[in-house]
Amino acid sequence: MATLIELKDVTKEFDGQVVLRGIDLEIEQNEFVTFLGPSGCGKTTTLRIIGGFVTPSNGEVLFDGLNIVDIPAHKRPTNTVFQRYALFPHLDVFENVAFGLRVKDRNLEQKKEITKITKEYHHEVKKLKTEYSRDKLNLKALGLEKVELKEKENELKLILENKITVLKEEKEEKISHIKNTFINKKDFEQLINDKVNKYLKMVGLEGYQNRTVHNLSGGQQQRVAIARALINEPKVLLLDEPLAALDLKLRQEMQYELKEIQRNAGITFIFVTHDQEEALTMSDKIVVMNHGEIQQIGTPEDIYNEPSNKFVASFIGESNIIPGIMKDDYLVSFDGKDYECVDKGFAKNEEVDIVIRPEDIDIVEKGTGKITGIVDSVVFKGVHWEIDVKTTDRIFTIHTTDHVKEDTEVDINFSVEDLHVMEIW
Ligand SMILES: Nc1ncnc2c1ncn2[C@@H]1O[C@H](COP(=O)(O)OP(=O)(O)OP(=O)(O)O)[C@@H](O)[C@H]1O
Ligand SMILES: [Mg+2]
Repeated sequence: MATLIELKDVTKEFDGQVVLRGIDLEIEQNEFVTFLGPSGCGKTTTLRIIGGFVTPSNGEVLFDGLNIVDIPAHKRPTNTVFQRYALFPHLDVFENVAFGLRVKDRNLEQKKEITKITKEYHHEVKKLKTEYSRDKLNLKALGLEKVELKEKENELKLILENKITVLKEEKEEKISHIKNTFINKKDFEQLINDKVNKYLKMVGLEGYQNRTVHNLSGGQQQRVAIARALINEPKVLLLDEPLAALDLKLRQEMQYELKEIQRNAGITFIFVTHDQEEALTMSDKIVVMNHGEIQQIGTPEDIYNEPSNKFVASFIGESNIIPGIMKDDYLVSFDGKDYECVDKGFAKNEEVDIVIRPEDIDIVEKGTGKITGIVDSVVFKGVHWEIDVKTTDRIFTIHTTDHVKEDTEVDINFSVEDLHVMEIW
């Protein structure tokens, strides 16, 4: 995959307050990238910098290797579905989606080409005239008789006029060819119709063309907003918490649909959410942010299984996070006991955080596990039980499908590879 967008050391300050610091990020073509982090961490600001609505205080934003910091939003190959999406209440579904096409000059590309040809023509005429003036001066320098000089000058002028006429005819012919490719109003309506229907179908709203927007559910309105952004066929779609307003079931449906749309339309999605589950289900790549800084970039599996620090571990999924000491490579100590682990490369006796996921801990008979404790609480969570076991030093949260009674004395157990040792940031 090729790198499509690159942020290099991007910083943003608002009124002297730093809200983004040193953001370095690469986004590949056709990738589904999610910015994940708590409220105020800088997700929307980063997205707006990519979309061109906010200018970074420092750093570079590259598209296909070119710095686009000075290119305004409407000239970027991006389209945005904003955090608070607004549909036009006076337009029906069809016209809301068609809007993006209608505001564009349907013959914009052709008109640009005509302007270019006209400019070329003027430039070439100017060049011919300069040559003519130079030839005239050279003629004068020859010291010819007056009558002869006049005759020669007239000849030069005639040549110039002929050249200009030829040039003009040539350019006019080109322009007339281009004008023949102008899309007329009727064909344009047909094109709009085809595209609106295509994108309404893609978001599952076929047959909703003539509905007014107030008669739609929140989820349907959201889909109209997405179709409206897709119809411009951007290279990159920026989506700022587009599902936040929906109830859980609809949100899950839309997550699935968005992922499908992204695959089918073959475009890059940059998606913002503070919902970790949403990020884990939809993304190819997750960018975890906190306080204006990137904490970790990785696949959902990387982020979940190998969180790079305590913040990521606690933000993604539930975790038991325990302070400890890395005694040596593959040997970590916490709560007064040494445990074998799979991590290495830390300084001797470095203070670390250790994460153990609730689903990686087993409850076993007392005397057969690693740590002894007493069952403190048992809560039914649908698929599993959430059981807290209190040991001498702390409470471990455990997810298991086996039921254990409160106040039972038990041991807890975990495998060597379920201890994840992290640097303290
Ligand atoms: N135009 C602005 N002027 C001043 N401060 C701003 C402006 N826009 C954002 N901020 C500040 O920048 C920080 C990051 O804001 P941003 O909107 O990027 O956060 P976010 O991660 O999208 O949060 P949320 O999840 O609540 O949408 C916040 O402290 C916010 O108050
Ligand atoms: Mg935001």
